[in-house]
Amino acid sequence: MSSSVRAELVCFESSCRARFPITEVLYNCPQCGGLIEATYSGPRPSGAELRGLFRQRRLNNAPLDASGVWRYRELFPFLDDYAHVVTLREGCTPLLDSPIAAQYGGLDRLAFKHQGFNPTGSFKDNGMTAGASQARRLGMKRVACVSTGNTSASMAAYAAAAGLEALIFLPRGNISFGKLAQALEYGARTLEVEANFDQILALVRVLAARLGIYLLNSMNPFRVEGQKTIVFEMLDQRDWQAPDWIVLPGGNLGNTSAFGKALREACELGLIDKLPRIAVIQAAGAAPFHEMFVHGGEFKAVTNPETLATAIRIGDPVSWPKALHEVRSCNGTVEKVTEQEIADAKAMIGRAGIGCEPASAATLAGIRKLTAAGVIARNADVVAALTGNVLKDPDYIYKYHTGKLEAPDGVKLQSTFGNKSIVVPNDPDRIAALLQ
Ligand code: F0G
Repeated sequence: MSSSVRAELVCFESSCRARFPITEVLYNCPQCGGLIEATYSGPRPSGAELRGLFRQRRLNNAPLDASGVWRYRELFPFLDDYAHVVTLREGCTPLLDSPIAAQYGGLDRLAFKHQGFNPTGSFKDNGMTAGASQARRLGMKRVACVSTGNTSASMAAYAAAAGLEALIFLPRGNISFGKLAQALEYGARTLEVEANFDQILALVRVLAARLGIYLLNSMNPFRVEGQKTIVFEMLDQRDWQAPDWIVLPGGNLGNTSAFGKALREACELGLIDKLPRIAVIQAAGAAPFHEMFVHGGEFKAVTNPETLATAIRIGDPVSWPKALHEVRSCNGTVEKVTEQEIADAKAMIGRAGIGCEPASAATLAGIRKLTAAGVIARNADVVAALTGNVLKDPDYIYKYHTGKLEAPDGVKLQSTFGNKSIVVPNDPDRIAALLQ
């Protein structure tokens, strides 16, 4: 289907735009140091043809069509042979309406695109199936990443499924136990480094070059290509009616880059007829992108990022130039939220019967702020991405509900929507009395 399409790697910097073969191992432009993206040229099916094709494939059990990523393969046609694909039937995540969360967020209605339903419990699987498949195509033997936990869990699973050796670098003491456990269970060689995410990313870049390892962090352009399908699947679930706003948490900003690219390309291909606005939400203790967006000037990294939402505890996000371009292109915005706001929003998402990990809840906290400020209208059509599963970080949940959650600065957080368990004796009379 995609044989006549030409896929290339291109430098993202508008002043450079150097082009490279799609099979080159590149994370940055060798000429100017800019980020790299995949681009496609040549004849493509029309929007109407594609919409019909994608819908038809939902009835098919073939692995490529059953995957909520590869079902949309014409929208990221970088592979020349789909035999390279490693799939765990990722994607296929629900779009959930939540009146309870809408009310909390100051909206008439709100839908969550819940990426926590993925095979390893986060949105990273959408990108990892693409990155791991490219690794196989290139004949790589070892893959590596630095991670705040979800990328590593995902990479470990896909590497195992693909028969690749996985090497994982984690910031010691700052990843949830559930995520660390996943890396071990999927058999990855796991190194806990005494440094933060940003420092370890610099370290891993040096090691990757030295040891000839394929890097699967989000500056890998193929991860971004796979993550675009989060947006495509969401639009498909809405019969290609674009929402007014898409809200997502921002850490390393790979997902923001992917969402923006997906929306622009969906418009160009005639799949949708308007460009939704993107709102990126950061944790206040790790909000360099918010700082730059609001105050302008040079990008300044935060040297000691802090948040209990460890997934987004990142001070020097590599993909900020792409993310900035995307947020500006769609007239979007960037907001930041406090630890208390994240914790309470998370509990509300739980109360709605949905649940998510802390970083994901930044979305609802951000929506609440943005509606209060009049940036998002009460009657706007809003989709928020929940990036990770509720079980990723049970320690955080237990502490919140028992009033033991402390912000990184030591301040105790309010257990606003707390729900403590009750210890009872094995005595029907006393239990009945208690429950009356
Ligand atoms: N939400 C969750 C649950 C995440 O794990 C991440 C990133 C983000 C949001 C932010 O996405 O980096 O694309 O802006 N986690 C990465 C990791 C950094 O290593 O798992 P982003």
